[in-house]
Amino acid sequence: MMLWRNSFPSLFVFIPALAHLSSTLAFPSYGSLAGLSQREVHELAASLPAVLPPPPPGPLTSNGTKLVNDRSHPWKPLRKGDIRGPCPGLNTLASHGYLPRDGVASPSQIITAVQEGFNMESGLARFVTYGAHLVDGNLVTDLLSIGGKTKKTGKDAPPPAIIGGLNTHRVFEGDSSMTRGDDFFGDNHSFNQTLFDQFVEYSNRFGGGSYNITVAAELRHRRIQESIATNPEFDFTSPRFFTAFAESTFPYAFFVDGRISNRTTAALDMTNATLFFRDSKFPRDFWRPPAPTGAIGIIEIFSAYPIAPGRNVGAVNTYTPDPTSADFGNFCLLYTNFVNNTVKSLYPDPKGVLRRNLILNLRYFYGGIAGGGCEEIFPYGQI
Ligand code: HEM
Repeated sequence: MMLWRNSFPSLFVFIPALAHLSSTLAFPSYGSLAGLSQREVHELAASLPAVLPPPPPGPLTSNGTKLVNDRSHPWKPLRKGDIRGPCPGLNTLASHGYLPRDGVASPSQIITAVQEGFNMESGLARFVTYGAHLVDGNLVTDLLSIGGKTKKTGKDAPPPAIIGGLNTHRVFEGDSSMTRGDDFFGDNHSFNQTLFDQFVEYSNRFGGGSYNITVAAELRHRRIQESIATNPEFDFTSPRFFTAFAESTFPYAFFVDGRISNRTTAALDMTNATLFFRDSKFPRDFWRPPAPTGAIGIIEIFSAYPIAPGRNVGAVNTYTPDPTSADFGNFCLLYTNFVNNTVKSLYPDPKGVLRRNLILNLRYFYGGIAGGGCEEIFPYGQI
């Protein structure tokens, strides 16, 4: 009896401590710390291995075409727990072992993989990878999941509420994808057969059975119009405004065999499109692009059906331009808005390792566009 009574105070101390321990133990090393309270960040940061983010890998030294579906990179089916997400390029690299097969990688591993496996141009690879990592990755452990859980809210949500990964809606992943549904409809990351059927239909109608730049322009327009007409929460402001047009170029820029040297007229057949988009698989004997490659033809696709960045305002067919969003006439605003608004709102007042790593990751992010005439900004100071 005495023992029981004496144990009471320590039990009260112990129970919350246990609950906290289980939530930090359950927190994945790739989970994003964005949006958490100062206390949660502090506790989680202390329980995770802190990594000093290394500078990004440089451009490839040997940067021509080569066989990438080779013996050292066999496709393997998913194991229980392996993560895949909305990006068919990264999914394919993970399923062939250019990225860790579990789908969790550091920014350096992602940059190496997209350069090695797809010959993505180094500046673009850096800008996209650090952009995604800053908003969806764990900035203490230097790990990012290429899918992962999207934001969880409500009483059943495990603490903390945000897990991050590329599936996280709005900060990087966005609406009107070619083969994935809008977040509003419940699944923003899985291969969507109905949308892929439309991809095939458009390739038949405008590209003679293959996806090329003409198909890209028509399908991009179509997907935007569909989202305007069906998704009351459709958001087409920066950065989604840019990533949507860029991703429309990727199938003919990256998924076509590198022994075809003219990339502006390159065309992706539907057998190979199915392999990449649905199965995360390189075609047999696939060679990467012949030179470092970016979003070739992005302006042509935009110019076919120009549209201002904007969003639906709570109902379908209410698309309203947003003059504060960056567009193709003001690229530097993409960078400054992303840093000052998006990143800063996720991490208003970081301390310690988190602040240090934010500063370093912002540095590497800017490195992707250094030389492009945009002024570097330092919302967390410099080290
Ligand atoms: C450099 C690092 C990369 C990151 C962080 C990244 C991330 C993403 C994300 C988050 C999406 C989803 C956007 C959305 O639809 O809402 C996406 C889509 C896409 N990505 Fe990547 N990606 C990367 C590299 C690549 C590469 C190298 C390729 C091609 C080889 C590629 C091809 C695509 C395509 C085609 C889509 C559009 C999917 C669709 O609209 O159905 N990505 N990527």
